[in-house]
Amino acid sequence: MAAEKPTLENIISLADFEAQAESCMSAMAFAYVAGGAADELTMRANCEDWKRILLAPRILVDVSEISLRTEVLGQQLEMPIMLAPAAFHRLCCPDGEMATVAGANQAGGGLILSSFSTVAVEEVTASAKHPVWFQLYFQKDKPLTQEMVRRAEAAGCKALCITVDTPVLGARHRESRTQFALPADFKLPNLKLGPVSHRPVRSAVYSELLNPALSWKDIEWLCSMAKVPVLLKGVMNPQDALLAVKTGVSGIIVSNHGARNLDTLPSTAEALPRVAEKVNGKLAILVDGGIRRGTDVLKALALGAKAVLIGRPYLYALAFAGAAGVARMLELLSTELIMAMALTGRTAIDQIDRSVLWDTASHV
Ligand code: FNR
Ligand code: LAC
Repeated sequence: MAAEKPTLENIISLADFEAQAESCMSAMAFAYVAGGAADELTMRANCEDWKRILLAPRILVDVSEISLRTEVLGQQLEMPIMLAPAAFHRLCCPDGEMATVAGANQAGGGLILSSFSTVAVEEVTASAKHPVWFQLYFQKDKPLTQEMVRRAEAAGCKALCITVDTPVLGARHRESRTQFALPADFKLPNLKLGPVSHRPVRSAVYSELLNPALSWKDIEWLCSMAKVPVLLKGVMNPQDALLAVKTGVSGIIVSNHGARNLDTLPSTAEALPRVAEKVNGKLAILVDGGIRRGTDVLKALALGAKAVLIGRPYLYALAFAGAAGVARMLELLSTELIMAMALTGRTAIDQIDRSVLWDTASHV
């Protein structure tokens, strides 16, 4: 007999959503969300490496009031947690990104909307109560790219995150095995396209929706025409972080794309402190990949991130319970973060620094 589906109240950690998600989605949709590149070594490392970092507790600090409010690139966030850009939310829930933004509204989370959303950017921002940023997949067609940027800005998106780690996809075996294809009634309204997917077509490597020729010159051009702050999403190599500083972007997102492209990369927990050292406060840094606990968020902030992005857990939550699931996911994670801050003696986000970590705490 199949186990009964638990109620939302019985979901008490992000892992609980993951455990339930497979039975709430088509095999193809679950493979798409859950999968990583090749042997999924980096995907596992992304989660495990946050867990390996130790925290330094503090005692006898008055922690009776804790605030998660923070400012990133001049914008007020209710919590240092945003929903990462992810394509095709209708694969998880019939209302797609409308359900996601409703959940973010309820819990106070910011949202980074994918270029490949199944609801138009204008519709999403019209109902958003918290900052929406637009993730840009810079297209081969430059006028189209410019139009996407203008639409996102006009719709009220407060920043542009250009994804720079995906000239091509990686070897995604789970997508291949389930023969990923978008349902015929899906649209990609930000690109004014029908059901065209990200899957490679040319030489089994190159995708129609991705630009393998993107270079630093294109980023300079985009920075010169954008009216809102520009971030690069997918910086791992400290050398690239230095180039980002020179190019004039406002921020970077340390990310290996949820380990969906290149396997055997280091985890983002491993890369973040090295990148932060090179950036030396000159850019805002955010991070994503494998963040599943409030303690993981605390560690990311201690290592130099201003905020974190969450990917798969909210997609599982969306599949499990739509908007209410997304809200619950954010509430669980932010509650865990408050607990972790209390137990390390911090009452505000700007009090979180390296001394939260055991091996760099001032006691050693
Ligand atoms: C993604 N990611 C992603 N990134 C991006 O810039 N544009 C996109 O359209 C997508 N699409 C997408 C779909 C799905 C199903 C997943 C799981 C991920 C990557 C995403 O923004 C983020 O970097 C990772 O998901 C973070 O890792 P975790 O939290 O999933 O471990
Ligand atoms: C993905 C792309 C579309 O990771 O960003 O599936």
